[in-house]
Amino acid sequence: MTSPSSKPLLATLKGERQSVPPIWLMRQAGRYLPEYRALREEKGGFLALAMDSDAAAEITLQPIRRFGMDGAILFSDILIVPMALGQDLWFETGEGPRLAPTVQARNVLDALQPNAEALEPVYGTVRRVAALLPPQTTFLGFAGSPWTVATYMIAGQGSREQAEARRLAYRDPELMQALVTRIADCTIEYLLGQIEAGVEAVQLFDSWSGSLSPAQFEQWVIAPTARIVAALHQRAPGVPVIGFPKGAGGKLPAYARETGVDAIGVDETVDPVWAHASLTANLPVQGNLDPLALIAGGPTLESAVDRILLAFSERPHIFNLGHGILPDTPIAHVEQLLARVRSGK
Ligand code: CP3
Repeated sequence: MTSPSSKPLLATLKGERQSVPPIWLMRQAGRYLPEYRALREEKGGFLALAMDSDAAAEITLQPIRRFGMDGAILFSDILIVPMALGQDLWFETGEGPRLAPTVQARNVLDALQPNAEALEPVYGTVRRVAALLPPQTTFLGFAGSPWTVATYMIAGQGSREQAEARRLAYRDPELMQALVTRIADCTIEYLLGQIEAGVEAVQLFDSWSGSLSPAQFEQWVIAPTARIVAALHQRAPGVPVIGFPKGAGGKLPAYARETGVDAIGVDETVDPVWAHASLTANLPVQGNLDPLALIAGGPTLESAVDRILLAFSERPHIFNLGHGILPDTPIAHVEQLLARVRSGK
């Protein structure tokens, strides 16, 4: 058995500050890597890749082999949950995800029921990765948060300012509540399935939490997240939960206090000095380099990195981007980033 302290990322999530912060990058497996593009080509697309346990395990491991990241994130997608609920999911090349039928009426939601079988390939990926991961690497599972997943289920695709979902929440709050509850229940079982198969911590991606007014944020982001966190803490004690409410800004301290997450992800629009001063002392923080500063590279990248390291030097900190790595990121800049973070400056 490997003790937690031999896994710096897991130890940090449990509240132990490291002198050199552990690092992983959101979307670290993906299109900026030639080895990812080659395998995606071979398998015929993203979804085929994600549903093929051997291929998805290989892709999960690619950034670990290439860079020695401290965390490996399961290769899958947040839209696997709607798929497991029976919505059709496909990806339009060059555009993004599509879901049908859209959840705009009660009868559509009533027809969406969880099918645990659909999630089996993901658990297969987890078991394969768990068997192959270096002992110092922490294995992260994930799911989307109910609000963010709901925005795709309602609009059938990515949407500007999540207007369709926000309209539905005002027009028919009961339907919205039923949808969010259906997603949350499925997400709890899905994350427990990932944990049982071998992930050591999980992250909830709430990419679109930033478009909600404060009262709506309480209702659609904080409340369902708190329910998921409580269920996981009860049924998988000791497994840390990272909450990432992208765009939450000034609502971050309330999110951290009220959801009970074990660590909080902070996006690049948040001043790290403010975040350190405003968030509960010793709460592990993850973030928050601008993905565009990584593309810029050079001294611009180094000063941005140093500013973040300094701001979070007194608390448990996991270095990450403020959002996913972009496909046109030069690999040499990722190497420069790792060297800077690990130089102990
Ligand atoms: O972080 C990782 O490396 C793990 C894998 C992962 C993917 N998607 C793989 C993926 C994770 C954690 C996600 C999360 C995800 N998926 C989110 C939340 C985080 C975020 O970025 O805001 C959202 C909103 C989605 C939904 C989604 N999936 C969209 C909107 C798209 C199309 C846009 C895009 O970036 O291409 C995807 C496709 C997707 N998911 C790709 C990858 C690697 C690209 C597929 C490809 O073309 O190869």
